[in-house]
Amino acid sequence: METKTDEVADGIYRFSTFIPEVGIPFNQYLVIADEPLLFHTGMRGLFPLVSEAVAGVMPLERLRWISFGHFEADECGAMNEWMAIAPDAQVAHSAIGVMVSVDDQATRPARPLQDGEVLDLGGKRVRHLYTPHVPHAWDAGLLYEETTNTLFCGDLFGALGESPVVSSDDPVGPAMDAEAAFHPSSITPSTAPTMRRLAALAPGSLAMMHGPVFRGDGRDALERLADAYAGLLAAAE
Ligand SMILES: [Fe+2]
Ligand SMILES: [Fe+2]
Repeated sequence: METKTDEVADGIYRFSTFIPEVGIPFNQYLVIADEPLLFHTGMRGLFPLVSEAVAGVMPLERLRWISFGHFEADECGAMNEWMAIAPDAQVAHSAIGVMVSVDDQATRPARPLQDGEVLDLGGKRVRHLYTPHVPHAWDAGLLYEETTNTLFCGDLFGALGESPVVSSDDPVGPAMDAEAAFHPSSITPSTAPTMRRLAALAPGSLAMMHGPVFRGDGRDALERLADAYAGLLAAAE
């Protein structure tokens, strides 16, 4: 296995490790700023590969913030390894996630983020959107980087197999194929409305955890993803 490094926007790096046994890539994103932020840590087992890749871009001890979509091994499994190597690093996650899991599991107290709260990183600004159960987990939330119009969409979208780094191909079909294969999403009456709230951000890039960086009309893609999940909910009733 190898971890590939690509700069996908000004000061935003994607680290991607394709795991053949699972059949999908696992991506982390580094936002370079006065206070650098890593979105997703990867599993503990990936830490040697991912940290070596990040060290190729930035001294590891500079890391200030660790954030992720929800409390799950691929999202945050290596948070304590990162905090051990970066003395100023601190987890920033949804207030519910901090209360329910992070402050018990992490070696240092975390910074709870309220819905809509902006973390000014100095040169970059990330806004926390609380998205409970979208795509899964009570503590779920995403980050929107305002200066590059990038939504770190976590497990939303995603595609089976190896993906290109950046793609303008329609992300909805592959996302629904992945849904059919893995059933990752909690499909509730609030699923589609939450996705439509993200669509209103009109992101120009959707930085996926298990797929490419989609570049294009993020509003349209999220609206059509919401339509697809609304259809699944209706079909289940
Ligand atoms: Fe997940
Ligand atoms: Fe994930």
